[in-house]
Amino acid sequence: MKTVYLVYPEKLGKIAPELYGHFTEHIGGMFRGGVWVGRDSAIPNIRGFRKAVVEGLRRIAPPVIRWPGGCFAETYHWRDGIGSDRPVRAGWWTSWDGRAETNEVGTHEFLDFCGMVGAKAYLAVNVTSVTPMEARDWVEYCTAPRGSTTLALEREKNGSPEPFDIAYWGIGNENWGGGGNMTPEFYALEYRRFATVIGNLLQRRNGERLGELICGGANGRDYAWTRALTGSVSGSEAPVDGMSFHFYCGTAGDAVDFSTENWYALLERAERMEDLIRRHYAIVQGYGAEDRMKLVVDEWGCWHAEGSGPSGGQNLFEQQSTMRDAVVTALTLNIFNNHCDKVRMANVAQLCNNLHSLFLADGPDCIVTPTYRVFELFRPHQGAEAIRTVVEDNGDLASRVSASASVKDGVLTLTLANCSCEESVTVDPVLLGAEWDGTGKAYLLCGDSMQAHNTFARPDAVVTREVPPDGTHRLTLPPAAVAMLQVRVRSGAPDAETDRPTPGTRG
Ligand code: AHR
Repeated sequence: MKTVYLVYPEKLGKIAPELYGHFTEHIGGMFRGGVWVGRDSAIPNIRGFRKAVVEGLRRIAPPVIRWPGGCFAETYHWRDGIGSDRPVRAGWWTSWDGRAETNEVGTHEFLDFCGMVGAKAYLAVNVTSVTPMEARDWVEYCTAPRGSTTLALEREKNGSPEPFDIAYWGIGNENWGGGGNMTPEFYALEYRRFATVIGNLLQRRNGERLGELICGGANGRDYAWTRALTGSVSGSEAPVDGMSFHFYCGTAGDAVDFSTENWYALLERAERMEDLIRRHYAIVQGYGAEDRMKLVVDEWGCWHAEGSGPSGGQNLFEQQSTMRDAVVTALTLNIFNNHCDKVRMANVAQLCNNLHSLFLADGPDCIVTPTYRVFELFRPHQGAEAIRTVVEDNGDLASRVSASASVKDGVLTLTLANCSCEESVTVDPVLLGAEWDGTGKAYLLCGDSMQAHNTFARPDAVVTREVPPDGTHRLTLPPAAVAMLQVRVRSGAPDAETDRPTPGTRG
């Protein structure tokens, strides 16, 4: 039995819905045959987008979607993706898989997709291979008031008279790598140039800005990058609203056929996210820039060897997603919830037929992965107020429980992951500073093994089940499982648990 203290009076801040964001790149089978099937396809679609994906996304309320890359963004001409004459080009990934970029999905199509699923748009601007003026033109094309400029008229001619609402502009992608192999000092100056001319266009006289600007942060634990970038950008007049970093926890063993050792090796790496958040944020705080440069983890996930997905390796980076990926997802989202004061957005990489995907599709077939099921289960956290959880005796990874909790409209949501792939665990949630009001509902996500995953032949090998309440709020999680408990609570109640030991500080 493991006690999880829910320290109700200790509010950690609001969980930005954007912590549950997504990433879509023009890569492999992500759009091509995945999310995008084309308007004339026999596969059910909504204006060219696969209906099963659109409907699946609607169920998990995607708050924001990042596009068009990734590395792809850094050789992308936005003009290729507007109007009726779309050039076919060698995109960033063409040399990897021989597939040319047809530009069928461009600005209008992507923003239509965001509208269909109710997500905000996060566009990544090419910093490496175009001028600040070309980037500014894209921003003007998207945001200029109807009829106000030649670019606004061009947008109207292309079917969208009213300006698009772009919530976030990312300035570059991985500029320490594919995005130009820049030094942090050089990128910081590029950021300042691009952000100044783009920010100028978005700035209103009353101080508001029509879209936020995210600067491109570090690769994993490259704290030197964060120091140099934060120092330069926060010490300038350039507008900035957030700083990204990317962290892939990689792989251990095969995507599906992995061992117990592989299981723990990968989870251990996934847990590093917490330290990364603390340390990057501490640097930002050191510069007094936390109001302007809160963290954006705009690429995260597992990165297994390709070939385990439905295309058998044809789609670049496509991989199967097992209960191991689901537990990585749950523990990562729990970390984001527990650090919602430091992280303002996160985007899992990538939505479909790629790394750590929520959907796998091929021809008319489309399934959701265990990772999708975790996003579905964690949905009530979006926009809720996080409260502190303390898991007792949580040292050893092989018996660890990952937890986070939040409250919204008087309903408490507790999400849990059993980090053990060998032992079941019973979790005893103890509410401090409030009282349970009823028995609530509990849900369990698991398969018949840690390698369990969905396929076109067995799309429900991993499903979420409602578990009947027994009046104690206790939950038993099998090995390699994720769970969610939702119970109405009455706040302000005296602490009824005074005979219990004081919770420690391990969360
Ligand atoms: O998600 C695949 C690639 O990983 C992205 O294009 C890039 O940003 C990262 O290195």
